Amino acid sequence: MKDLHSLLPHSMAATNLNSASIFLLTFALLFMVMGHEASNSGQYPVVVSTWPFLEAVRAAWRVVDNGFSAVDAVVEGCSACEELRCDGTVGPGGSPDENGETTIDALVMDGVTMEVGAVAAMRYIKDGIKAARLVMQYTEHTLLVGEQAAAFAISMGLPGPTNLSSSESMDKWTKWKENHCQPNFWKDVVPVDRCGPYHAKDFLGSSHGTCSKTTLMENIKSRSSHVGRHNHDTISMAVFDKVS
Ligand SMILES: *[C@@H]1O[C@H](CO)[C@@H](O)[C@H](O)[C@H]1NC(C)=O
Repeated sequence: MKDLHSLLPHSMAATNLNSASIFLLTFALLFMVMGHEASNSGQYPVVVSTWPFLEAVRAAWRVVDNGFSAVDAVVEGCSACEELRCDGTVGPGGSPDENGETTIDALVMDGVTMEVGAVAAMRYIKDGIKAARLVMQYTEHTLLVGEQAAAFAISMGLPGPTNLSSSESMDKWTKWKENHCQPNFWKDVVPVDRCGPYHAKDFLGSSHGTCSKTTLMENIKSRSSHVGRHNHDTISMAVFDKVS
């Protein structure tokens, strides 16, 4: 493995054309700014998650209710979803990318220290959220990616290398290819062949984008109408262990 200092940057700007990698956005918060009403009510801990992933919420609840930290709870909760492959997309065996490979993304934040750890496009390791936590806990980095994220995770004791494909993910990919690689996450491009490689439309002299207010509003409108369960987060979870 490379020296940690040569690994990836302190930036979270992970843009990714990989249409189907898994994103776990997770927060563990010691909530400090809630109103007096809430802070006096003794209604803590609290576990919140996107989507009706009850098993994940229950797993997190058991941890925080037993006195462990909000970060511990978030990691357990999201791990439960990775194991269960919630929604068919979270964790190993979930959605494949354009090459048919499943890779893992995960991010965790500690609301007390504001520390963040994340992995992206991580290969061969099934435990995304645990790897993200190791990045947060044992490195000065924020984000490790790809093979280097995998090497780091293995060196810190997570199991791997593992085949992250499943018969379901391979099946999904085959069907997507058969459907001329639709839908996908490209925009303003034309495929040379049906499934790419893709070229920027501008290169071929097509119309350039404009900055008019109308165009902007149309863009926002057409995009927000496409926001839904299958192109939003996979799971996000917040755990509040107490109010200080
Ligand atoms: C990984 O698993 C998938 C699905 O079971 C299988 O098709 C593929 O051949 C496996 N890859 C390797 C390198 O073993």
